[in-house]
This record gives sequence, C-alpha cells and structure tokens, in this order.
Amino acid sequence: MALLILWIHISIWASSTFGNFVAYEDLYSENITRILDRLLDGYDNRLRPGFGGPVTEVKTDIYVTSFGPVSDVEMEYTMDVFFRQTWIDERLIFDGPTEILRLNNLMVSKIWTPDTFFRNGKRSISHNMTTPNKLFRIMQNGTILYTMRLTIKAECPMRLMNFPMDGHACPLKFGSYAYPKSEIVYTWKRGPFYSVEVPKESSSLLQYDLIGQTVSSETLKSSTGEYIVMTVHFYLKRKIGYFVTQTYVPCIMTVILSQVSFWIDKESVPARTVFGITTVLTMTTLSISARHSFPKVSYATAMDWFIAVCFAFVFSALIEFAAVNYFTNLQSHKAVMKAVKESVLSAATVPADSDFVTLSDSNCNLKKRINSFTSHGNFSLEENIPTYAPLCYQQGDCPTQDLTSGIPANSHAGTSKIDQYARILFPFSFAGFNLVYWVVYLSKDTMELNRNF
Ligand SMILES: *[C@@H]1O[C@H](CO)[C@@H](O)[C@H](O)[C@H]1NC(C)=O
Ligand SMILES: *[C@@H]1O[C@H](CO)[C@@H](O)[C@H](O)[C@H]1NC(C)=O
Ligand SMILES: *[C@@H]1O[C@H](CO)[C@@H](O)[C@H](O)[C@H]1NC(C)=O
Repeated sequence: MALLILWIHISIWASSTFGNFVAYEDLYSENITRILDRLLDGYDNRLRPGFGGPVTEVKTDIYVTSFGPVSDVEMEYTMDVFFRQTWIDERLIFDGPTEILRLNNLMVSKIWTPDTFFRNGKRSISHNMTTPNKLFRIMQNGTILYTMRLTIKAECPMRLMNFPMDGHACPLKFGSYAYPKSEIVYTWKRGPFYSVEVPKESSSLLQYDLIGQTVSSETLKSSTGEYIVMTVHFYLKRKIGYFVTQTYVPCIMTVILSQVSFWIDKESVPARTVFGITTVLTMTTLSISARHSFPKVSYATAMDWFIAVCFAFVFSALIEFAAVNYFTNLQSHKAVMKAVKESVLSAATVPADSDFVTLSDSNCNLKKRINSFTSHGNFSLEENIPTYAPLCYQQGDCPTQDLTSGIPANSHAGTSKIDQYARILFPFSFAGFNLVYWVVYLSKDTMELNRNF
C-alpha cells in the first residue's frame, strides 16, 4: 500500500515537473515567434530607420579571412572577407526573455538593410552555399548586427616603374549606393586601427608581402548628391626573389659569359663569334620571357632598364670582337704588303729563266705565311707572286724557322690592345652599373615604404 502511494507520488511529481518543462519550452518559442511577428507587424522594410529624421549611422568593420591572389596583368586583387555592419533600428526594439535574437538570412529579407556596394569592386560574390552566408542579430535596444561572407575582386591601380622593387596600395572603397550623406553615414566601428583585421595566416600571396592596412573615409560629390566613401588601403610589397632567380642572375651570367670572349685568342674567330652571337640571342630570349606575364605597360620598368643595359653590354662585346678582328686584319695586311715588297726586291736577284731556282728560306717562309693568311683572310697575293707558289711546294718542307720574324709582334699573334682594354673596362663598368642600379632602386623602395606609413 505504502509502495503504491510512493509510486503515485513519484509519478505525480515527474509528470508535473516534465509537463511544466514542455510547457515552458512551448511558451518560450511561442513568445519569440510572437515577438518577431510583432516586430514585423507594420514594419516597412523600404524605409530606413528614422526616415525623414536623424541620419542613420552604419558602423562597419571587416575581417579578412583570405587575402590574395593579386593579378598584375589585370591589376586587381581578390580577398575573402566577413563584412560586418551595425546600425540601430528603433522599430526593432523589443522586450522579451532573451537579450539578443540570433537569426539568419531568412529574417534579413524582411528588414531594412543598408545598400552598401563596393565602388572599385569588379566581380564580387556573396556566398550562397549551402544557404546564403549571412548572420543577423537584433539586440533589445534595437542594435542590429548584419554580417555576410563575400569574395571581393577589386581594382588595384599599379604604377610599375620600379618593378620588381615596387609596392602598391590596393584600395577597397565602399559606400551607400542610394542614400547620400544626409541619409546615411558610415563610420569605422572599432576606430581607425582595428576596424580592418587581417590575421597573419590569412595571406595567400605568392609574390607579395602584405605589410599593413590603413582606413579612411571621405566625401564624394556627384551629380546626385554627396556620398560617404569608406576606403581601406592594403599595402603590398613585392618579393623580389622570383625575379632574381629568373631574370637578374641569368642576365648577369650572360654578360659575364660574353666577356669571357675577351680572354680567348683573337685568332679563334669561330669561338669568339659563337660567344658573341649566343649571348646576344640569350639576352633576347631573356628579355622576351621577362615581360611574359606582365601587363603591357608603355613605360620602361626597372627590370627593363636592367635588361636593356645587359643587352648593351653583350652587344658591345660582339662589336668589340668585330673591331679586334678588323684591326688585326688591317695590321696583317700592312705587314704582309711590306714583307711582299721586300721579298719582291730580293727575288729580283734570282735569275728568272733558271729551272733550278732555289728560294731563300725567308722567301719560302714568307710564302707559307701568305698562304696561311689568305686561307682565312680576304687578301689574295696569288697575282702578286704567282711564280713562287709552285717553287716553294716543290722544295718540300720549308726549314723550320721563326715564322713571325720580321713581322710586328702584335699584328698577328698575341693579345690585341682593344682586348686588353676591354678586359678591364667591361667588367668594371658592369660592376659599377650594378652598384648604382641596386643602390638607387633599393633606396627608392624604402623611401616609398616610409612615405606610405
Ligand atoms: C511569454 O509571454 C507571456 C505574455 O505574453 C508572459 O506572461 C510569459 O511570462 C512569457 N514567457 C516567458 C517564458 O517569458
Ligand atoms: C542565392 O540563393 C537565393 C535563394 O536562397 C537566390 O535567390 C539567389 O539568387 C542566390 N544567389 C546567387 C548569387 O546564386
Ligand atoms: C545595445 O545592446 C547591446 C547588447 O545588449 C550593447 O552592446 C550596446 O552597447 C547597446 N547599444 C546602445 C546604443 O545602448
């Protein structure tokens, strides 16, 4: 009996407790629904808060979840953000069991929201997967928080004079499309320093470093009124590493290679020609590939200047060899003419009608020399001393003697004066150019950075 009474007691207690709980839940959600219905009852979402009265202040802040990539060719950049806006709508003040109504996009369409647009945006996406990525909160005092996830592609005008030692300030500009300054003003929610947050790990930039960002706001006048324009500048600094390995080092190597030719014997015409032509062609290829993935700007960039100077060095190395070759030939020509004159004079003493003419050793050597000269030169002596040619060969080998005796030492063998100067002049002027180039551009670079901050 007592057990039965106890069981009845327990069941009564349980039913009353859980019954109350279920009733409370029902009541709670019912109350929220009623609150929302009451809020929307008579709400006109075509009118801004305080229509005809005070200005609506929209506080904004931006959280960048991913920054990049930046496209030089299109002069634009992409980023993924949480774009947050806060304003007060007095029509939405409510009194209820909860402090904050946490809602999503289903409520957004029924409520007035600011018509913010990105002035320099190109193709921005509001994410829709799986439902529109929007957050909507109403606080008891009518404060509204509205955030959305966007992928923004915006223009970034670039001046590429200092490329690749350049930096850019990429702007993001937004404001109201329809409401002028007298209706809506924008402010930065957390002051100028914290309203745009870019976590370190959010950068997905390959070619740039994101150095920092600044915010500002300005008034823009147009024919339809004065509008508030909010601007964020993202400061980007290009990383030079890629260009050092892809362009600068190959250019420098090519110039050095072209100067190796000064140390090769001037007689080795094919070797030196190959050096000259190959390095010029390599520079041509390098200069073309350097501009490959680059906007077709009309002005010369810092890299163009470098390549142009490298090209000039390589080209003048080729010209130098042409000069060396020309003057060598000129000198040999003179020397040979002189020797020929002498030999003709001495040959005059030999009886012309003799069948067993024996040429002196010096004549034979001269002939040999003339032959070797004409074989790779442009100077023919065949008409000058036609009768000596068979004689010399008939006699067999000439006596081994110093072939260069009687001919100026530096006219045929040895190092050309031009080569001697070039060996010093070319490397030093190239080193000097490099010094000036890097000092000028790297100091310009830091100056620009300091100006931005
Ligand atoms: C629900 O609203 C009624 C009045 O409409 C109120 O009496 C009741 O306390 C509310 N319930 C809760 C849980 O706030
Ligand atoms: C996003 O989804 C909504 C419906 O949920 C649709 O009306 C809207 O057109 C979609 N927007 C895009 C860009 O797909
Ligand atoms: C409105 O309420 C929220 C949270 O309850 C608070 O953070 C905010 O400061 C309030 N705003 C005003 C203007 O009272």
